[in-house]
Amino acid sequence: MAVLENLHKSYGPRVIYEGFNLTIRRGERWAVMGRNGAGKTTLLKMIAGASAPDAGSVRLGASLNMGYFAQQSLDVLNSDLTVTEQLQQDFPQDNIGSLRNLAGAFQFSGDDVDKKIRALSGGEKSRLAIARMLYNPPNFLVLDEPTNHLDLATKEMLVDALKDFEGTMIFVSHDRMFLRGLGSRVLELGGESGTDRHPTVYPGSYVEYVQKLGHEAPGIYS
Ligand SMILES: Nc1ncnc2c1ncn2[C@@H]1O[C@H](COP(=O)(O)OP(=O)(O)OP(=O)(O)O)[C@@H](O)[C@H]1O
Ligand SMILES: [Mg+2]
Repeated sequence: MAVLENLHKSYGPRVIYEGFNLTIRRGERWAVMGRNGAGKTTLLKMIAGASAPDAGSVRLGASLNMGYFAQQSLDVLNSDLTVTEQLQQDFPQDNIGSLRNLAGAFQFSGDDVDKKIRALSGGEKSRLAIARMLYNPPNFLVLDEPTNHLDLATKEMLVDALKDFEGTMIFVSHDRMFLRGLGSRVLELGGESGTDRHPTVYPGSYVEYVQKLGHEAPGIYS
């Protein structure tokens, strides 16, 4: 689905990637681990095309249809619109009934759909952004901390929905339920010390990675 070859990326003098390679195959669900500032968001941005590498290439599969969720996804919501109006703008060909069902599936009930986006809480905005992303199911998801702001019920719903998702994913999460439920492959940036310059691929799932480490990855909450 994606081949990253010899990627280099620096911000000024700070080198984040230096000859990084990764192949993401169909159906794999990659969890990207690493401390704050390790370069997780930078990697996802380069995959999503939101940031260009200084050198090297990101090649995506021809049939790939990407869904990208990041903090900045919340900024593309139009704060002057209501939830329903936003969905109508996004999916003009769909009738109001199916859009209300979509909103309902993401726990916008009753009058919630008539709230202006500017009045939504952080969690409500995240729910709306994820609902939009999953409505026309992409086959490749790039998710940067999607469960931030989500309450437990919504998080469980999202993890369950993604377990049934048959596409490919690469994600960053500090959430144990998300990692345990979904991480079939592990990429660790910075190593256990947090300072290792060489990214490491673990050959198993997140659960196997924890078994090998003997403890949950640092900074993971439940
Ligand atoms: N546009 C930018 N300009 C300068 N430095 C940047 C820029 N974007 C990121 N950085 C720096 O690059 C490093 C990697 O940032 P990145 O956002 O990829 O980290 P991260 O692993 O996602 O961290 P976190 O866990 O905090 O989200 C950090 O030191 C960050 O300050
Ligand atoms: Mg980040």
